Amino acid sequence: MIIAIDGPSGAGKSTVARAVARELNLPYLETGAMYRALGLEVVERGIDPEDRASVEELAGVLALDLDRRPDGSFAILVAGEPVGTRIYGLQVTEATSRISAYPGVREYMRELQRVFATDCGGVLEGRDIGTRVVPETPFKFFLTADPAVRAERRWRQLREADGASPRLADIEREVRERDERDSSREDSPLRWDETYRVIDTGELSVDEVIAEIVADIGSRQNSGE
Ligand code: DC
Repeated sequence: MIIAIDGPSGAGKSTVARAVARELNLPYLETGAMYRALGLEVVERGIDPEDRASVEELAGVLALDLDRRPDGSFAILVAGEPVGTRIYGLQVTEATSRISAYPGVREYMRELQRVFATDCGGVLEGRDIGTRVVPETPFKFFLTADPAVRAERRWRQLREADGASPRLADIEREVRERDERDSSREDSPLRWDETYRVIDTGELSVDEVIAEIVADIGSRQNSGE
């Protein structure tokens, strides 16, 4: 079984996807962490994120691996080492948003994700899982929320990951800019269509969102869909 959970940043995808995977006893892959791992390498090597040719070249030679943890989620390894929480820092987040628009990068990541989905099944969370990576799956959810709500969540996460205290107004502006980049890129933009179930997470608690998804999957399995 493959479950696609897509949506913009800060919509609560990671928390929800991880919990749904746990509840259904399925593997879980956070595909944003794969793009972030490349973003981290770009930053650490001092490559300009706007330099598409260098970034695509790096994607082609990057030894990116997925390593199953005991809880069923997958750690991202670069050259055999787990990337850890550094991928969630501000600078890496900004760089990742830019480099994830490049077709050479997306093609590389999509291929890895497709192999993962067909080999392991499970819950895959990202931006284009239901539209491009595994469009054939019937289980597609699009989580969204007002940008102000998502910015506040991101702001809290950043404070925890970075120990930094960024201004909420700056984070909200960046969230809106990233939404714009995610939605307007030519290669696999952030979209949902009628094959998705859309859930506004601003109105619901995390537990309610998880319950809605699990119930939806259960009812469709029971009805033989
Ligand atoms: O989900 P996230 O915020 O951790 O994602 C980090 C970045 O990666 C974000 O800028 C969008 C991009 N991304 C993507 O383009 N496609 C995916 N399937 C997952 C993430």
